[in-house]
Amino acid sequence: EIERSSRKDVCFKAYVIITMTFLWTGYTLTVRYTRSTVKQDDLYASTTVVLLAEIIKFFITLFMFYRECTYDFKEYKSNIAKYYFGAPKELAKMSVPSIAYALQNNLDFVALSNLDAGLYQVTTQLKVVTTALFMMAFLGRHFSRTRWIAIFMLFAGVAAVQLNNVSNSSSRPHENYFIGIAAVLSTCITAGFAGVYFEKMLKDGGTTPFWIRNMQMYSCGVVSASIACLTENDRLFDKGFFHGYDMKVWAIIGFLSIGGIYISLVMKHLDNLHKSFASAVSIILVVLLSFMLFQGVAIGPFFVLGTTIVVTAVLLYNSVPE
Ligand code: C5P
Repeated sequence: EIERSSRKDVCFKAYVIITMTFLWTGYTLTVRYTRSTVKQDDLYASTTVVLLAEIIKFFITLFMFYRECTYDFKEYKSNIAKYYFGAPKELAKMSVPSIAYALQNNLDFVALSNLDAGLYQVTTQLKVVTTALFMMAFLGRHFSRTRWIAIFMLFAGVAAVQLNNVSNSSSRPHENYFIGIAAVLSTCITAGFAGVYFEKMLKDGGTTPFWIRNMQMYSCGVVSASIACLTENDRLFDKGFFHGYDMKVWAIIGFLSIGGIYISLVMKHLDNLHKSFASAVSIILVVLLSFMLFQGVAIGPFFVLGTTIVVTAVLLYNSVPE
């Protein structure tokens, strides 16, 4: 019986992490595609995308918590009164990662507008290292030498995967390499920090239920994403909130919101570093899919080498017990 339930647990973890990987792959490809093909004037405002995603995530958590209360409306109402409205201090605590994520979600668009998807993916891998450092600082985690080796191998492997395309990526006129890199480096710090903070709140932040934690985070997220929209006030008034929206933009919003929910599930059931490892796998998928979908993307010996290193790193990291 124990064996069966632990097997079920492993299956569930694999499901969560694989789904997350596919959602973020779809997100990266769609954003990059729209940002590099649509003319500047016809382009949607990224701040509106982030805001809508926060609103959708908020409603998803409202529903998920209702489900967790076994659709018992009375219990639902009293739990929300107790944990959400009755705990303003906890809500305030969640505003910290929420603001960091709001910053990160907007910076991601800056990065993807200025770098090709491949280069973006390699540089964001630095997040594995910043995340590990924040985990040591805030969660008191220690990593064995084997795990540090795996962490750096992951970084090297991802870099190798990209070596083929980085050199022959043609930069478009409105793209600025340095702005792109600066945006990515900032997100490595904000996202690394926010992720670890969220995990800390989940794992030793008292009795607040998981979906309430997300509710607290996304309600602050709606506020900070609205403020981000206000910085583009003129443009949004001028052209309208939904200017440039089409099916692809709605797909981006879908990927961003459902992807965010799955990230929170990964942090609950696994941890931040597993999340980083999953996103490395997603990079390999991005390269493979770009190769199949877009012109001018090459796959060569570096890809094979990098993939081998990444797979080895994943296995090595998981070969030592927690
Ligand atoms: O860059 P990283 O993989 O850390 O991105 C995290 C993403 O997950 C952000 O877009 C953030 O808004 C989202 N997230 C979420 N809910 C959480 C934690 C993160 O939607 N509880």
